[in-house]
Amino acid sequence: MVLVSSQDNDLVFQSYGRCCRREQFFEDFYSVFLGKSDAVRGMFSSTNMTEQRRLLRAGITWLLMYARGAPGGKLHHLGETHSRKGYDVNPALYGLWVEALMESVQRHDPDYSLELDQRWRNVLRPGIEVISGAW
Ligand code: HEM
Repeated sequence: MVLVSSQDNDLVFQSYGRCCRREQFFEDFYSVFLGKSDAVRGMFSSTNMTEQRRLLRAGITWLLMYARGAPGGKLHHLGETHSRKGYDVNPALYGLWVEALMESVQRHDPDYSLELDQRWRNVLRPGIEVISGAW
C-alpha cells in the first residue's frame, strides 16, 4: 500500500470531523456529485438518499481508517458491490466522486486550503484503489 504520512492522516481526520458536524456537508456532496454526470444520476434514481448519506458517512471513515493502516475488509466488500457484478461503477467515475467530495470539503471546512486538499487526495487514494480495483 502507498504510504500516507501521519501528518496527512491526522490533518484530514480533523478536517473530516469539522465537515461531519454539518449534515449539509453530505447533502451538498450528493447534489454536486449527481450534478456531474447523467450516468451517476441514473445510478441513484431509485436510491433512498437519506440512507445513502448515512452510508457515505461511514464509507469515508473506512477510507480514512485504511490510510491509517486498518485492514481493508470493508473496502474490499465495497469493491465487490461497486464492481461489474454489482452497480457496475466504471473506475473513471471515482475521479468525479473525489472532485465532488473536495468541493464539499472546501464549502464546509473553515480551515480548507489547497495544501489540505492535496492531503485529502493522498489519504483517499489507497482506499479508492482498493474499491475501484475490484471492477
Ligand atoms: C470511494 C468512493 C465511494 C465510497 C466510499 C462509496 C460508498 C458506498 C457505500 C458505503 C454504499 C452502501 C453500501 C453498498 O451498497 O455497498 C454505496 C452504495 C452505492 N454506491 Fe458508492 N461509494 C463510492 C463511490 C461510488 C461511485 C463513484 C458511484 C457511481 C458513480 C457509486 C455508486 C453507488 C451506488 C449506485 C450505490 C447503491 C445505491 C442504492 O442502494 O440504490 N459509488 N456506496
